[in-house]
Amino acid sequence: MPDYTHIPVMLTEALAELRVKPGGRYADGTIGGGGHAAAILAASAPNGWLSGCDRDGAAVESAQNRLAEFAGRFEIWSGNFADVFETLEADSFDGVLLDLGVSSPQLDTAERGFSFQQDGPLDMRMDRRQGLTAAELVNRLDADELAKIFWELGGEADSRRLARAIEAERRRQPLTTTGQLAALIEKTSPRRGAKAHPATKVFQALRLAVNDETGSLERGLAGAVKILKRGGRLVVITFHSLEDRLVKEFGRARARDYEFDGAVDVPELRRPRQPELAWVRRKALKPGAAELARNPRSRSAQMRTMEKL
Ligand SMILES: C[S@@+](CC[C@H](N)C(=O)[O-])C[C@H]1O[C@@H](n2cnc3c(N)ncnc32)[C@H](O)[C@@H]1O
Repeated sequence: MPDYTHIPVMLTEALAELRVKPGGRYADGTIGGGGHAAAILAASAPNGWLSGCDRDGAAVESAQNRLAEFAGRFEIWSGNFADVFETLEADSFDGVLLDLGVSSPQLDTAERGFSFQQDGPLDMRMDRRQGLTAAELVNRLDADELAKIFWELGGEADSRRLARAIEAERRRQPLTTTGQLAALIEKTSPRRGAKAHPATKVFQALRLAVNDETGSLERGLAGAVKILKRGGRLVVITFHSLEDRLVKEFGRARARDYEFDGAVDVPELRRPRQPELAWVRRKALKPGAAELARNPRSRSAQMRTMEKL
């Protein structure tokens, strides 16, 4: 078994927000190394149930091992939560957890290609059965398409210049490694004095694009609401503002007591309806000082909780 170490983020808060109870039924859409899942199964003993999934085969294998002591009380699917939630029974779970983004083993394994700090193939696929890789995007898309990804999914202000530099570089030789791409970004847009590495935003954008993370999140949130019982809770942990905005917009739309057609909310054209969700708290929860000191990777985490009405 390969080593798979991921410290679960905001674990105490997740259990409290999910109100895990003995005999409860929970779904974990991002099971990773099974850290949150193990705590949910322990807190829902003796007969609680957990349906979990992950797109990453290595995560599924490691979670299966980690949860062995709870045999008979869980199932784990290999796949995108957006698809897996479609297959689970509607109105049947007390809580759903989504702990988004990448796990530490994904980031720390050079050959997965997620990190600009280690040289590896430009891959970035969470599900390695998938065809599309980061190398394909970087070597095939034209500069306008690349700039759009860097800007829209990474908020990269130098998106056009970087996209043009990539186009010029790949005419000389294809970009196949994370090291090549990180060096090119550093040379093109050095940003002396900035805290974050200049490649941070481009790498985030490529990862989101390769894995269609925003599309999966939109479908997954809708699926999560469908499988929750009334009074059940959806807890989402995000790690960057784009994801958090999607969660907020989703929650806001489903908590409205009216609907409207098109993009503009004209008060006269509103049609009343029952809201589907309520926010459990208005502001996102963040990790406390002790967790930040213990696990620096938790620093950008934000947790939002909604309850199905
Ligand atoms: C932050 S880690 C989760 C860690 C986990 N909560 C734990 O305690 O070990 C995020 C995981 O979500 C998975 N993931 C991200 N998006 C996914 C999706 N749309 N469907 C299924 N898994 C996804 C990643 O492969 C990764 O293993």
